[in-house]
Amino acid sequence: MASLSKSIFEKIKFFWAWIQSPASVASVVPSSMELAAAMIEASEIEPGQRILELGPGTGVFTRALLDAGVEERQLVLVEYSPEFSNQLRQDFPKAQVIEGDAFLVLKELRQNAERFSAALSGLPLLMFPEEVREDCIRDCLQILRPGGYFCQFTYSPTPLVADNEEWEAKVSERIWQNIPPAVVWSYRRNVD
Ligand SMILES: C[S@@+](CC[C@H](N)C(=O)[O-])C[C@H]1O[C@@H](n2cnc3c(N)ncnc32)[C@H](O)[C@@H]1O
Repeated sequence: MASLSKSIFEKIKFFWAWIQSPASVASVVPSSMELAAAMIEASEIEPGQRILELGPGTGVFTRALLDAGVEERQLVLVEYSPEFSNQLRQDFPKAQVIEGDAFLVLKELRQNAERFSAALSGLPLLMFPEEVREDCIRDCLQILRPGGYFCQFTYSPTPLVADNEEWEAKVSERIWQNIPPAVVWSYRRNVD
């Protein structure tokens, strides 16, 4: 009962965030458990790994990561919205929550020696020009260990970026249970 009311509360909070900032939140409801499962599968993560999440919102993928055996203290969550960031700090007190613009934070993370095993993104990337999308993927792949996946979901039938010699891309089946139905694109560097 408590988790049902928390889930309803999160949906209302998400909808309210969308009303205030439709371009940034980009969806009226949080992603489904089915989409979260597809993101986890595509990222090929293993328990104990250090994982980066961009645009976690109310934490649907974050919870799926914990369920998959990732330790909370191994999570770095980058969220633009102050309201979502505060909630994430309460719900995941051992994770590192960075409140800010993921595109800028990625540049800063590139200065750190410690790498991530995978990156999961809920950013509304398709709203940005292709150069920005490419830069985001490139910056993310730079801070991943060799073989690590950058995973991004999208509602669109269009690929996020054109094929590129720098990385290999694969796409999941469409997840029809999600509102709206979505696919997961995953990218990893071709040459390490
Ligand atoms: C489509 S929602 C996805 C939320 C969550 N991952 C999910 O699937 O339910 C997009 C999220 O990205 C965040 N966001 C948008 N632009 C951002 C940026 N430049 N940097 C960090 N977070 C951003 C929004 O605040 C929102 O939480």
